[in-house]
Order: sequence, then structure tokens, then C-alpha cells
Amino acid sequence: MPIAGASGSWFWDHSGNRYLDFSSQLVNVNIGYQHPKLVAAIQEQAGRLLTVSPAFADESRSEAAAMIAERAPARLNKVFFTNGGAEAVENAVRMARLHTGRHKVMAAYRSYHGATAGAIALTGDPRRWSSEPGSGGVVRYWGPYLYRSAFHAATESEECDRALQHLRDLLMVEGAHTIAAIVLEPVVGTNGILVPPDGYLAGVRAICDEFGIVMVADEVMAGFGRCGEWFAVDRWGVEPDLITFAKGVNSGYVPLGGVLISDDIAATFDHRPFPGGLTYSGHPLACASAVALIRIFEEEGILDHARDLGSEVIGPGLREIAGRHPSVGEVRGLGVFWAVELVRDRGTREPLVPFNTSGDAAAAMNAVAAACKQRGMWPFVHFNRLHVVPPCTTSADEARQGLAILDEALAVADEHTVGA
Ligand SMILES: Cc1ncc(COP(=O)(O)O)c(C=O)c1O
Repeated sequence: MPIAGASGSWFWDHSGNRYLDFSSQLVNVNIGYQHPKLVAAIQEQAGRLLTVSPAFADESRSEAAAMIAERAPARLNKVFFTNGGAEAVENAVRMARLHTGRHKVMAAYRSYHGATAGAIALTGDPRRWSSEPGSGGVVRYWGPYLYRSAFHAATESEECDRALQHLRDLLMVEGAHTIAAIVLEPVVGTNGILVPPDGYLAGVRAICDEFGIVMVADEVMAGFGRCGEWFAVDRWGVEPDLITFAKGVNSGYVPLGGVLISDDIAATFDHRPFPGGLTYSGHPLACASAVALIRIFEEEGILDHARDLGSEVIGPGLREIAGRHPSVGEVRGLGVFWAVELVRDRGTREPLVPFNTSGDAAAAMNAVAAACKQRGMWPFVHFNRLHVVPPCTTSADEARQGLAILDEALAVADEHTVGA
């Protein structure tokens, strides 16, 4: 759809149709569209200095790195900039391998890590299939997801314990000493907004410590306000060794990503070069926009707003909606990061449409999405789920407006439930 313009949480087409963006484009426009201060910061940097190679220092680059590291967990004090999320993941894995001298990496089913060779090999969803056989050395595991538990768990704490035991079992048979890194999305994004049970991230941290494995948190989608925190791991007070970020770091206004690096891993490269680099690493325009975004977030209290929007408006609103619609199997999330999982049958939890389907078989989901769009709300649809992922700056009234549209649109999904 050709877009004519956008402002705040809204965009519009050339026919004047306006849409409340409940998708934040690709879950990256965290500060909303055309934030005037962010636009001004980019314009100012454009007038000052547009490009220098990564080997040189530039004020925007140094400031962005310092500001990001100051807001990250205590031991992560260095930043390696990239142009996006996939490159961040590639470089995080390279760092982990060089730091440990090991090769294998553990990555979760129901995950997405990017579309470059290494990142897609780690990805635990169908987007990987066409790139197989990809790079070797990936060991795949199930993360916690109580609604569709791989461990037949009945409670969050059972799910947590069994998911951690599953990791330990895999390490035993794979040889823990051969594993360089465990990669996870602290709150899984596109594959379902899977919020981990309390204790899970701390449990993975403990396993990594026990076996000398690097813990990599992929916060490309979950970071920079999405969960109402700078980093999703802050919610549980867990410190990974490496954090990958992109998307929300500057609201996608200019391509930017990066890896936050712990002191231990950074020390590995004190006396040897890190064999990685990109022509546009730390591009001044991108870095200036990250600096401005962090300042605006703090000036405008956006983290608190995103957290409260989740706990006071979106969460309660979605739970109310779930009570009215037999097609809603589960709602879950935090901050401005929510999923509505649709089912044909609440008893069996059969998804409203089959896994990874398209065309006619996906008709029920397409019809729900169309009903949202007709009413002026742009949803994020993945498999049998609608994700409610508006900008962090969306007002409570706008959020309620979007939820009211979702409530109406779900009548279409109800028609596809068993017995309807
Ligand atoms: C968790 C996660 N990691 C990595 C990526 C890849 O980021 P990019 O598309 O910027 O390469 C994404 C993109 O959606 C993501 O959600």
C-alpha cells in the first residue's frame, strides 16, 4: 500500500484513509512517526557531518555508544554498531565463538534472528527452511510457552523448571564444552510474544555461568521501550554477556543496530583485532538519531508510559475482549508488546488457522485483518495471532480506540470457531 504520510501513531494513504498503527510498521517505530525532535536531530547531523568510516571517532557515534551502554546492564560497557538486527546477531555469534574458542550455538524454536546466513540458520521458524542446509553447528531447543507447552507443563513454574532441565539435557548430550553461546529472545517477538516465566532467564544465566557459555539476548524487537524498559532483561534483573539491538534504538528512522558487549568479552579483543566491520557501522545520521531518541524517551517519560499502557490499558482491555470472544485462546504480553492468540476451539486449543499457512487456508486470519483495516486500525498478523504492538508513544485514548476496533473485528474470527 503506498503511504502518503504519517504522524504519531497514524499513517495514511493517498486516498485519505487513515490508520492507527497497531504494528509500529515492523515493530520498530517505537517513538511514533515524524517525532519533531528526532527529525530535527537528524537534520542537524546532516548539516554537520554525514559520513566518516568506522575507524574514526565522531561525536554522534561516541555519544550514542556511551548513552546506550549507560542504560544497559552494568557489565555491558562497549558497543559494536551495525546497520540492523541480523548483522548484530552475526557479530554477536562471532564474538562468542572467538571468546570461548567453541563453535556450536544453541538457538530456540519459535525464534527469529534475521535474514543473513548465520542469523537465518539460528532462526527457529519457517523463514529458515529455504536457506537449509545452512551454516552448521546450530543446536535447537524449545523455550517456555505454557499455552502450547513442549513439556506438558500445567503451571508457569513447571514450564520454567522443565524448560531449564531440557537445556541441561541437551548440554549433556551435545557436550557443554562444545557450546559457545545460548541465543534467546528474552521476550520472543514475531513468534508469539512469549513472555518467559519468572526464573527462566535467571536459570539460563546460571547454566551459562556453570558451563562457560556466552548468553546472548537478542533484544532487536524487545528492547528500547517495547517491554516498558530499555532492555527486556531489565524486567527480570538478568545480565546477559551480549545484547543485540536494532529497530527501536532510533525508531527505525535511519538503519542502525549493534551489539552491547560485556567487559569480559570486550577484553578478549584488547590485544587482538575483532575480525568484523562494516562500511556503515555507526553511521553518524543513525547514531545522532539514537542519541536524540534516548533523550526524548527520558524527557517525555516514554518508558513509564509504555509500561503503564500495558498494565493499565492494553492488558486489561485485551482480557476483557477475550471474555467476549470464543476465538481468543490466550492474550499475553507486557508494555506495548501483546499477542492475541486465536483458536478454532478453546478446549483443544486448535489454532484458528494452521501453522505457517497462507492463501485460502489463512482466510479466517485475513478476514480479521481486513475487518481491522476497514475500521482504520492496522494490525500485525502472524500465523493465528494478532499482535498489539503500537508505538510506545500511543496515548491511552488511541489504544482504547484500537482495542474497540479489534473487539468488533474479532466477531469475524468467532464465526470460524467450532460450534459457531
Ligand atoms: C528478534 C529479532 N532479531 C533480529 C531481527 C533482524 O533484524 P533486521 O531485520 O534489522 O536485520 C529481527 C527482525 O524482526 C528480530 O525481530
